Amino acid sequence: MPTDAYDAFLADLPKVHTWDGGKTWNAGGFGANALAALRKSLEAELAGVRPVIAETGAGNSTIMFLFMKPKHVYSISVDADVYPRVVEYCEKAGVAHDMLEYTVGRSEAVLPEFAAGLRAKNVQLDIALMDGGHGWPTVFVDFCYLNAGLRKGGLLIVDDLQIYAVNEFARWLARLPQFELVLNLKKVLIFRKSWAFDYLSDFGAQPYIVERTKARQTSADPYDFGE
Ligand SMILES: C[S@@+](CC[C@H](N)C(=O)[O-])C[C@H]1O[C@@H](n2cnc3c(N)ncnc32)[C@H](O)[C@@H]1O
Repeated sequence: MPTDAYDAFLADLPKVHTWDGGKTWNAGGFGANALAALRKSLEAELAGVRPVIAETGAGNSTIMFLFMKPKHVYSISVDADVYPRVVEYCEKAGVAHDMLEYTVGRSEAVLPEFAAGLRAKNVQLDIALMDGGHGWPTVFVDFCYLNAGLRKGGLLIVDDLQIYAVNEFARWLARLPQFELVLNLKKVLIFRKSWAFDYLSDFGAQPYIVERTKARQTSADPYDFGE
């Protein structure tokens, strides 16, 4: 039996997503074990700070963040319909959602202005989740602008390592000295940003790119791009 509202949430995750016009419904990519482990790790890392959170891709991640008594949650998703489902669940479960600011749109379009707005308000993110579009360039665009808003010591969550575009991104990120892996759930990772910086230096200071470039330079044709 669930002992509190979060346990009840995990025991029966709301099916907030439909991607076929309502024929089938699902809870999204995070299972109960991942949501339990993520919240535990995030709260341990935050040590009592009421976090400012931003995410690309809304759903049960949004509800988990609202359970964490955040100062603010910025959620950016192309799915307008997920918002009322999140609100409906929170109201039934008695979870406050007045600090949720939901923007409907592609993260690539929304994030540049969003990051500029944070800077203008002098607000920094404690947590950022990348879980909207999982192709290129979306993954890197999301990283670029979420990172620009993330404070030193802030936590970056990267979901869906099974997708090539995300996996390559994670390989690149894991090698940067500016990020430290704090939780590895295989499909989903949490990194801590250990340096204060808005933008990264060029490729020469990015170990994964340096390594892959060396491999390319010693290959038969460094200019081959598989055409
Ligand atoms: C895998 S789901 C996960 C969402 C959420 N984190 C959850 O816990 O359910 C990804 C969502 O991002 C949305 N999405 C896809 N591309 C996007 C983009 N470029 N910008 C914003 N949202 C996007 C999808 O429609 C989908 O609902």
